[in-house]
Amino acid sequence: MRKSLIAGNWKMHATHLEAIQMVQKLSYRLEDTDYGRVDVVVCPPFTSLRSVQTVIESDHLPIHLGAQDTHWESSGAFTGAIAPPMLAKLSVTHVIVGHSERRQLFGETDAEVNKKAKAVVAAEMTPIVCVGETLEQREAGQAEATVRSQVAAGLKGLSGEQVAAIVIAYEPIWAIGTGETADPDTASAVISVIRDEVASGWGGDAAESVRILYGGSVNPGNIAAFMAKKDIDGALVGGASLDPDKFASVIRYWM
Ligand code: PGA
Repeated sequence: MRKSLIAGNWKMHATHLEAIQMVQKLSYRLEDTDYGRVDVVVCPPFTSLRSVQTVIESDHLPIHLGAQDTHWESSGAFTGAIAPPMLAKLSVTHVIVGHSERRQLFGETDAEVNKKAKAVVAAEMTPIVCVGETLEQREAGQAEATVRSQVAAGLKGLSGEQVAAIVIAYEPIWAIGTGETADPDTASAVISVIRDEVASGWGGDAAESVRILYGGSVNPGNIAAFMAKKDIDGALVGGASLDPDKFASVIRYWM
């Protein structure tokens, strides 16, 4: 049985003061939540990591801290970049890698995504590796081939045991921040393809264990339908994660 995971990607939102309030509000809204059913991750901007870490640790909150990106090197002359060991030292447990905004707006390639995923694993954190097709690729019948090649390239060089423990997020690019969602059947079909690609590259055990999330305009009204699909293990939530009330409702999807 794979445990559900709901991750909030705050993107470039919230100062560290706002982030403190957001995580405190979220924790009130999550009181009495059965954390045996769901892992919760918040991914604030780098400038808020230390503040959110302090709130999580001082209030003993069962919330995991995530980062939105990382460099693959451990240190060096890379002005403006952040290294995996710096994140690990802040008790960051999860790192989003290869988000479509990084790929589209910052030119990240599959090869870079792969280096980042391996560096995150080497620093003993969990990468959330994002894959997903554009609208043009979907319309050209290339959705499955696109995600298969992103998975194959992004996870290259990881062992089956390592892949078993990571998280993959399927985020069709046309559904991100647009209010459009993939319908649960479509999302689940692509996620089965991703699991099949993991099985062929890293074995059946890795495919059984790896958690695969859906992302793209997830909100309190549609989360239950995604979670009802047996292949969908959780969600990567952007816009709705900025509102603690909404994000708490997404996290408590069964209530
Ligand atoms: P969205 O973003 O929920 O605002 O569509 C999802 C994401 O980009 O991770």
